[in-house]
Amino acid sequence: MSQVGDPIRRLTPVVRLAPAKLNLSLAVVGRRSDGLHDLHSVMVPLALADRLSLAAAGGSDDTLHVDGFETGPPAANLVLRALAATREAVGAGWGGSGGPPPALAARLDKRIPVAAGLAGGSSDAAAALDGALEAWAVSLTVHERLRIAARLGSDVPFFLADGAALVEGRGESVTPLRGVTGDPPGVLLVTPRVALPTPRVFAAFDAAGGIAGGSTRTSSAHLADELRSGLSAAALVDRAGVLAVANDLIGAAVAVEPELLGLRRRLARLLRRPVGQSGSGPTLWVLYPSLVDAETAAEAVRSAHTAGELPAPGDGEPLVTATTILTRPQPDRSDR
Ligand code: C5P
Repeated sequence: MSQVGDPIRRLTPVVRLAPAKLNLSLAVVGRRSDGLHDLHSVMVPLALADRLSLAAAGGSDDTLHVDGFETGPPAANLVLRALAATREAVGAGWGGSGGPPPALAARLDKRIPVAAGLAGGSSDAAAALDGALEAWAVSLTVHERLRIAARLGSDVPFFLADGAALVEGRGESVTPLRGVTGDPPGVLLVTPRVALPTPRVFAAFDAAGGIAGGSTRTSSAHLADELRSGLSAAALVDRAGVLAVANDLIGAAVAVEPELLGLRRRLARLLRRPVGQSGSGPTLWVLYPSLVDAETAAEAVRSAHTAGELPAPGDGEPLVTATTILTRPQPDRSDR
């Protein structure tokens, strides 16, 4: 741990956007002795994001207030677990006080659908880790931050990369990619109101025979190679047909929630586009050249659902979101 600036002066509210992620590919390449699975997945962050703010708390415990989507009991929330883990890593002696860093009051505006294959909770955890370090005016090494992130959950390390990345191992091995360059591609997300717990989907994957041939792995490796040097929105959309089937958990998600299959087929017919699945689901994605195209598609999906032409599993209408893939800022060329 190293101290950055005056800790008391720096204990001012910190605001972080915590983006959702999309799996453009997801190959399950091995089963490990700890029961988890080794993956090869290209992940990109989305403009759809939760908003986390951290401020000094009045009392001695961290607190959490959530607006927006319901996230369950605060005590089980990854934000509080991330704050506790980060405090423990910083250790005693914060700011020369001899004690640990002070308690924080977290406010989370939850805009990413919960338990949807979009890793919103994991992104909140990464934002809490990063935001707490800023609030406390301390820094940890990249290695220390990755270690905390991996302990919090398999998807958390990805969010420390701050952009497109190839994710391997159980999620702890993250290789940044240049990603999408130029104008950001649009993404339509359709999230039916069904709970699809990740462990159940992986269990269904194992029950169906586990690791199959390597075609998803091949598609995923090819995409990672292409995104290493960068792809335009148009080039990415051109690859949507391959990517929509490059997820080894599609069959397992359907085994847990059979009606997902019908929804995917009806969406593909309605939109005349390939429909993919993010992570273990149930969120389905469709890629577009721009946000405007994704917004037009979102309207079509809402109208079809209202007209009874797009029945979806679960209670209530599916969540329909138009967003974009986040692109990395262009390198600063002002000094050339
Ligand atoms: O790490 P996390 O808590 O997000 O994982 C939730 C569950 O998803 C694990 O308990 C496991 O069942 C499954 N999983 C897996 N292999 C991974 C990631 C998650 O089997 N690489």
